[in-house]
Amino acid sequence: MKNFLKEIPEQVTRIVFLLIVFIAAFLFIRSNLVPEDFGKTGHYRFSAIDEIISVDIKYAGQDVCNECHDDIVVVKDSSYHHNVTCEVCHGAAAIHADDPVEFTPTAPRERNICPQCHEYLPSRPTGFPQIISASHNPLKPCITCHNPHDPVPPETPKECSACHKEISSTKSISHHALIPCTKCHSVPEKHRLDPREYLPTKPGSREFCGQCHSEDADSEPGIPRIDLETHETKYVCWQCHYPHLPEAK
Ligand code: HEC
Ligand code: HEC
Ligand code: HEC
Ligand code: HEC
Ligand code: HEC
Ligand code: HEC
Ligand code: HEC
Ligand code: HEC
Repeated sequence: MKNFLKEIPEQVTRIVFLLIVFIAAFLFIRSNLVPEDFGKTGHYRFSAIDEIISVDIKYAGQDVCNECHDDIVVVKDSSYHHNVTCEVCHGAAAIHADDPVEFTPTAPRERNICPQCHEYLPSRPTGFPQIISASHNPLKPCITCHNPHDPVPPETPKECSACHKEISSTKSISHHALIPCTKCHSVPEKHRLDPREYLPTKPGSREFCGQCHSEDADSEPGIPRIDLETHETKYVCWQCHYPHLPEAK
């Protein structure tokens, strides 16, 4: 007998040992950890319902918030965020609804919550408003510019330079630096919001430049003058002088 045991290869004893541990664990779990009514009606347990009912409710739902924060609910429900419920941003707040003063929910004032939905991802539906947070007004919290309960994007910046960057930087180092854009272009207010639909005017004649540059013009002294009647009369001025960086060489 002793010899026989010695002859069993070591790996077999290990497997047998593991098997015994496994069976012992199985029997232990079955008799101690499986609920008593498990198996009585297949996999369904009647007592599961009571257990679920006894779990604390964590989310109150927006209807409950409406009881005290109806002003915010009204604003949010007619905003772009109408489908984003309060507790998505504020966290589970049932405990707050029960005792509003003792427990106040957190508000996501930092920059990190909003990009969870708005960071650019190729898999998001086209048209869903997305930003690249590394370059979209970095460092400032989103809520400095966007009301979280009514997130209309703020109106596009109204400076000409916001859209005509190159022209305005060119002009700023030119002889015309001090002439405002609107001296030469009359710009409809709506151009800034719907630029292609409402175009500004552009100077149309030599006389336009002549109001400052012709010899008899009633303009400030020091402005270089030309004789409008003789100075390169075949062309309009901007065929030779770029109006945003005029040079006379
Ligand atoms: C019974 C009334 C009541 C209900 C219901 C209620 N709140 Fe409030 N809530 C308050 C009061 C009162 C305060 C102000 C507490 C304070 O300033 O200490 C408050 C404050 C807050 C704040 C501000 C926290 C901050 O940092 O300024 C948030 C966010 C908030 N509630 C969200 C919710 C949400 C979400 C719900 C719905 C799940 C909700 N509340 C339901 C009464 C209520
Ligand atoms: C998209 C995320 C988002 C959603 C959705 C949202 N909130 Fe807020 N909420 C915020 C942020 C961010 C602040 C902090 C605003 C601040 O400090 O200027 C805030 C502030 C608050 C405050 C503090 C008072 C105030 O007006 O600044 C209350 C109360 C509040 N929220 C309640 C609600 C309720 C109720 C809902 C649902 C109807 C809701 N919020 C939906 C993000 C959200
Ligand atoms: C749970 C997802 C979610 C979170 C979190 C969220 N948003 Fe939104 N946001 C949306 C949805 C959905 C829309 C509506 C998109 C649409 O109309 O197609 C939207 C719309 C917007 C718009 C309107 C853009 C447009 O179409 O003109 C802005 C701006 C915006 N959110 C800013 C924020 C800010 C700031 C925060 C953080 C306080 C935030 N969002 C948090 C889901 C979210
Ligand atoms: C300094 C102000 C400012 C800050 C801070 C800011 N935004 Fe904006 N956001 C704007 C302006 C202005 C626009 C509209 C013009 C544009 O598209 O750049 C805009 C547009 C958006 C849009 C709409 C984009 C679209 O394609 O319709 C979303 C979404 C948005 N922002 C989300 C955010 C989120 C999220 C944050 C924080 C991570 C944030 N913004 C921080 C000013 C800001
Ligand atoms: C929101 C962006 C935006 C702003 C702000 C803006 N523009 Fe424009 N502008 C455009 C676009 C887009 C066009 C059309 C370009 C095209 O069709 O090739 C344009 C065209 C023009 C044109 C050419 C018109 C034509 O007939 O070719 C002039 C001049 C002009 N803008 C001047 C201005 C001045 C001056 C301001 C400031 C008072 C200004 N713009 C502000 C976007 C803007
Ligand atoms: C001294 C007058 C003058 C000033 C100041 C001026 N422009 Fe012009 N701009 C013109 C003239 C003239 C044209 C027409 C040029 C052409 O047709 O080749 C023009 C053309 C344009 C165009 C059409 C595209 C192009 O490059 O030809 C845009 C856009 C424009 N200007 C924007 C601006 C903006 C923005 C400013 C202010 C930063 C500005 N302009 C200041 C005279 C001026
Ligand atoms: C065919 C090209 C051409 C056209 C068109 C043209 N110029 Fe000139 N302009 C020049 C050249 C080249 C010079 C420099 C040599 C000179 O003084 O004749 C110059 C010089 C100038 C000077 C500087 C004069 C000085 O004393 O420093 C002004 C101002 C000027 N032009 C304005 C205009 C105005 C305004 C128009 C339209 C009415 C215009 N130019 C049309 C080519 C042109
Ligand atoms: C509101 C008056 C005004 C108008 C309109 C105006 N200019 Fe000028 N222009 C100036 C001033 C001021 C200077 C710069 C004088 C200085 O440098 O001291 C100047 C300088 C110039 C110069 C000389 C640059 C150099 O190298 O010395 C030229 C060329 C010129 N403008 C062309 C034009 C053209 C072309 C137009 C029409 C599109 C025009 N200007 C419209 C005021 C005007």
